[in-house]
Amino acid sequence: MCGIVGYIGNREAYPILIKGLQRLEYRGYDSAGVAMIDKNGSLNVFKKKGKVAELVAFAKENNTSGNIGVGHTRWATHGEPNDVNSHPHYSQSKNLVMIHNGIIENYAAIKENLIKRGHNFLSQTDTEVLVHLIEEIQLHEKCKLSVAVQTALNQIIGAYAIVVLDKNDPNVLVAAKKGSPMVIGIGEDDFFIASDASPIIEYTKNVVYLEDEQVASLRRGEQLKIRNLKDKEITPFIQELTLELESIEKGGYDHFMLKEIYEQPRSVLDSMRGRLNASTGEIKLGGVEDHRKKFEKAKRIIFVACGTSWHACLVGEYLFEEMGRIPVEVEYASEFRYRNPVIYEDDIVIAISQSGETADTLAAIELAKSKGALVLGICNVVGSTIARATHGGSYTHAGPEIGVASTKAFTAQITVLTLMALELAKVRGTLAESRFRQLLYEVEAIPTKIEEVLKLNDKIKEIAYQYKDSTNALYLGRGVSFPVALEGALKLKEISYIHAEGYPAAEMKHGPIALIDDEMPVFVIATKGANYEKVVSNIQEVKARKGKIIAVVTAGDKDVKKVADYAIEIPETDELLVPLVAVVPWQLLSYHIAVMRGCNVDQPRNLAKSVTVE
Ligand code: M6R
Repeated sequence: MCGIVGYIGNREAYPILIKGLQRLEYRGYDSAGVAMIDKNGSLNVFKKKGKVAELVAFAKENNTSGNIGVGHTRWATHGEPNDVNSHPHYSQSKNLVMIHNGIIENYAAIKENLIKRGHNFLSQTDTEVLVHLIEEIQLHEKCKLSVAVQTALNQIIGAYAIVVLDKNDPNVLVAAKKGSPMVIGIGEDDFFIASDASPIIEYTKNVVYLEDEQVASLRRGEQLKIRNLKDKEITPFIQELTLELESIEKGGYDHFMLKEIYEQPRSVLDSMRGRLNASTGEIKLGGVEDHRKKFEKAKRIIFVACGTSWHACLVGEYLFEEMGRIPVEVEYASEFRYRNPVIYEDDIVIAISQSGETADTLAAIELAKSKGALVLGICNVVGSTIARATHGGSYTHAGPEIGVASTKAFTAQITVLTLMALELAKVRGTLAESRFRQLLYEVEAIPTKIEEVLKLNDKIKEIAYQYKDSTNALYLGRGVSFPVALEGALKLKEISYIHAEGYPAAEMKHGPIALIDDEMPVFVIATKGANYEKVVSNIQEVKARKGKIIAVVTAGDKDVKKVADYAIEIPETDELLVPLVAVVPWQLLSYHIAVMRGCNVDQPRNLAKSVTVE
């Protein structure tokens, strides 16, 4: 959460910072701010509640010149979103400014001590406390800024990615991180710094991912210098970015979310590329292959994740139990980490995260590692904190997901889970060869089936129009489609602010049925399979109470179509793989409803793409 960006070199910093902030806005958009030092040595700070566009309007006509600067887009933790709490924050003398992503947990005690020593604080933030502390050390110890940063961070408990700018030394940016991501771009004669590579990609492909407890000095005309908090010099490991600029732009779509929904035939294909060959019956997934022995012997799989990734885990539970015949538990990372869970050394813990940065998921991983379990990750962002914290795993390769509502990451996660479950079944000998082969072909056909569903967009838009003014909605599914009901409800509530609940269809009569009246849309997955007849009965129960039924059905269905208000026909798919296809109508429906209600689809209120605080 929070996006940070910095620049030092020969170009004008401000346009680079603003463009970078726009790219990072998915990380938080409560407020934004920039600071630049101009050629006369003036430190100019502009910060404003609201989006980056509001900052740009505010700073217009002002002196934004300078070729060193920092920028920040905020997701509020300490202190409400207002101009004063926006970053950058000043030190006591106003010679230093700092931007910060993370939470300083012991800020209150430090603040109290600083107040006793005469410091005045303008904001309610933890960030302001840290920059005051850094300056106090700098002045007291008469040391370089980087040393003051090291000393201060040795007193800090919490997570941070910070960049500090010093009016008295306009030739250096000092950056450090722990628990929050930070990447440094190395240009020909300049440096870039950001929370992720998106603000950097158009200037350089050479990057260094800063590790925890490292402090970097980006000095004009010098090589990048990194030391850790114990003052050991670290040789920077320069990597080449594979990210392409087009992948982080809207490419003609009105919103990133719509673009990402439409990218799914491709992203699902990318997530299986080189890993599956139905005609030869081969499947090869590094994450499982590298730990084959552990998978052979494992007594249990524990999935940990949050939000949409947690829904993917629930799908994983069905897949792993059905194909690999292994007991599975699915845990909210935020609960797991504080529950003193029973974890055995022969457990395999699989953490799923699009961003690879979610704080609760990361903490759950550390807990599982401390108990001796093998921990694997399924992440989308290459080189992310979770990808590096796990013992191994598989990337989803879905490409950057920028819309706050997760769409293509979900289908890519399920694709990887399907491949993992198939490989597990192979290793453990739990699937007949014929069924194994049949499933490989079925998986290969998924991208084409998603393409077919996308052709239904106009019809789904028409349905959206009918239900855009609803105040409540119910989503139902059974078996492997139950997690899709949860995901459908999450998509609707997070971007359109309509209250929605996902339920296993048969649970409806144990409570939610009381909500049903002639205004209530009930979105049901009623595809052909073992539970079909049961779901048809659940639909009849809704209709008997005058509820509206919008059903996703298998192409050619007759029974549900007779009773449903709307039926969305999707191509016939193996029952285990239905979530990959059936979730797409729910994604499109939420998207259109949110647009029709005038909501900010890509940046829904109160949310951020990466939840790096607990
Ligand atoms: O990056 P992660 O997959 O770890 O994120 C987990 C959740 O924060 C995320 O899925 C969230 O629920 C999305 N906004 C859902 O659309």
